[in-house]
Amino acid sequence: MQIILCKSTHDVGRRAADIIEARLRQGPTVLGLATGGSPALTYQELIRRHREEGLSFSRVSAFTLDEYAGLPPAHVQSYYSTIRREFVDHVDMPLERLYTPQGDAADLNDEAARYDRAISAAGGVDVQVLGIGTNGHIGFNEPTSSLQSRTRVKMLASRTRADNARFFEDEAEDVPRLCLTQGLGTIGEARQVVLVALGSNKAAAVRAMVEGPISAFCPASALQLHPHATVVLDPAAAADLALADYYREAQELHEQLL
Ligand code: GLP
Repeated sequence: MQIILCKSTHDVGRRAADIIEARLRQGPTVLGLATGGSPALTYQELIRRHREEGLSFSRVSAFTLDEYAGLPPAHVQSYYSTIRREFVDHVDMPLERLYTPQGDAADLNDEAARYDRAISAAGGVDVQVLGIGTNGHIGFNEPTSSLQSRTRVKMLASRTRADNARFFEDEAEDVPRLCLTQGLGTIGEARQVVLVALGSNKAAAVRAMVEGPISAFCPASALQLHPHATVVLDPAAAADLALADYYREAQELHEQLL
């Protein structure tokens, strides 16, 4: 796991965008896209590079991580609408190559299995963008999710519903109870993973992910098994790390050698 400690919140967006841009410059790319507040600055920086520096997304396909069950794609808080509004509609990525699980599918189990197969059929994800929940979830893989899970229907933890109430006029009861999420096994098959975390409310989850045991109780800790995972943190999210000096030194050495 590579840990990048940023000097500011804005730096997090720039560093994560650098990783994505480097992959895009290699050729056609399949991105995995997270929604939520954490990657917003990353998407804003990619949009800026598209507008000001000509970075093109014309050869990109993208799969979102998860979706609320029961919300049709057109719902303003569906992750399909959210990722369009916050990223895809502002770059030159063909909309027909944006894939999300259908939250209003008649059979959610079938839809989950179909979505998992669609990711494989596209050749798998090249770079998966992730945030982390305050309870250590990635996607909507809540604590005790199987480390080998595939895309499936999950019930949201009450903490997640409370955290996400801000998108539903502060009414946790209005946050759907069920979702479709890529599983930890599915996410783990991405060739590269970039997890961004911002703010002091993520510090405990970040510490458990990076320095705790691999445990389904902190689903993000499954990334310790990934051969190419980068964690990009602002100072507040990194505040509880025991080995921060080591990560900083490794980062400086890595930059000198590049
Ligand atoms: C959400 C999403 C995750 C996201 C996480 C953190 O509920 N399902 O993909 O990474 O929780 O969200 P935020 O970045 O808004 O704190």
